[in-house]
Amino acid sequence: MRRTFIAILLAAAGVWPAITVLASEPASAGDAARGQGIYEEYCRRCHGDDRAGLATYQASQEELKLRLEGQLRENMPDFFGVFREEEIADLHAYLTAR
Ligand code: HEC
Repeated sequence: MRRTFIAILLAAAGVWPAITVLASEPASAGDAARGQGIYEEYCRRCHGDDRAGLATYQASQEELKLRLEGQLRENMPDFFGVFREEEIADLHAYLTAR
């Protein structure tokens, strides 16, 4: 009952549509600045300063996810379960921002 009341209040205030829009934002809307922080912590030791070893990387976020989760692995370490979807989006935004 109380919950319904709050939902109605939010809807009336026009807040609900805003929340729905945020929740359904596409997975690719990553933040390159946050991605850079993740890169420096986890990736730089192999791929170099300022993405040197990935300079031409432009594959999709889905490809990056599969790679990080060990499904495209050749010599790349397995980051399965390490990153949340938003962090993969952030990394992807950073890697592909040129
Ligand atoms: C221990 C070293 C190591 C670390 C740490 C590492 N990688 Fe890699 N990465 C590799 C190697 C080796 C390859 C090439 C083999 C392959 O494709 O799996 C590679 C390949 C890649 C590729 C494909 C490059 C291309 O041109 O298609 C991407 C993208 C990538 N890594 C991203 C990352 C990201 C993002 C991180 C941090 C979360 C990371 N790597 C951490 C060693 C590493």
